[in-house]
Amino acid sequence: MRISDPKILGALAKLDVELRQGTSLAELTSLGIGGTTDLLRIKKHESIPCLLRLLDGGGIPHKFLGGGSNLLVGDGELPWVILQLVAPEPDIVLEGNLAHVDAAADLGRTVTFCAKNDLGGMEGLIGVPGTVGGALRMNAGAYGMQIGTYVREVKLYRAAERKLETLRGHQISFEYRHTSFAPDDMMLSVTLELPSNPFHEILKGIRICNEKRRASQPLGQKSAGCIFKNPPGASAGRMIDELGLKGHSFGDARVSDRHANFFVNAGKASAKDMLALIADVRARVQKAFGVELENEVVVWNA
Ligand code: EPU
Repeated sequence: MRISDPKILGALAKLDVELRQGTSLAELTSLGIGGTTDLLRIKKHESIPCLLRLLDGGGIPHKFLGGGSNLLVGDGELPWVILQLVAPEPDIVLEGNLAHVDAAADLGRTVTFCAKNDLGGMEGLIGVPGTVGGALRMNAGAYGMQIGTYVREVKLYRAAERKLETLRGHQISFEYRHTSFAPDDMMLSVTLELPSNPFHEILKGIRICNEKRRASQPLGQKSAGCIFKNPPGASAGRMIDELGLKGHSFGDARVSDRHANFFVNAGKASAKDMLALIADVRARVQKAFGVELENEVVVWNA
């Protein structure tokens, strides 16, 4: 979708929103898949309510993009524009055991920055690509921890009420790869309360998680992490592996040889290829195990 109305273009400039016309989502997602649309880069949180009124008034649908690391975007010209936050400088401010972090901050950098300041707890998230906002929305977790545990406060744009809001940690529910945020809420910043631990101790934990991840996940390849959520008490990766589906492919969309719940873009995979692979694997698991796998990857298909 292209924004061409001069009135809207003028208003965007006044709101200090940068327009990047005809951006390829394949370049903004870890899967390297996705069509083209206009990208709006937001520099000030305060401009969001006004920006959304402007887009709604102009009949321009939109979607919020975080780090693009858990996302499968459709092919071709996309029927909505993309909104993305630009991280301020600095994007992490520490205050005792509290870390105030902008939603656009890189997750891995946040984990290491806090670690260097003797704040731990998030070792398991090292190596998880994406932004802090994306991790928050999905309640990202690994190796026995999840980010929700440390959340004390979240600033967000509440789409239903069309306003900026601050929620305390206890007002939000964090479950396995799920939160009580509405799908169109936009994470703006978060305050984490992290346990004190000397850097060298945190580093030990980080190294262990890094090694486990390197040994079991296809880190150098284009993927969106795990495609399916684990069903209660079971592992989607193990079930897919047991069916002998490692290497199974549609076009360049392929089940990883290293971890069967990672589907990789081995070349020029399209969203159509990846969606066909997801549907096929889901059907095979259903047939063999009687379990309906639920997507962990978020799909934006036109
Ligand atoms: N397994 C296989 N074959 C495979 C993959 C896994 O047999 O191809 C077996 C493993 O040997 C292990 C069991 O399945 O016995 C579980 O595997 P793993 O420890 O890799 O964990 P997982 O359940 O597949 C979850 C998260 C990962 C997270 C790891 C580590 C989900 C869907 N996945 O994977 O998160 O990194 O634990 O904590 O919850 C993600 O969310 O995108 C993600 C990658």
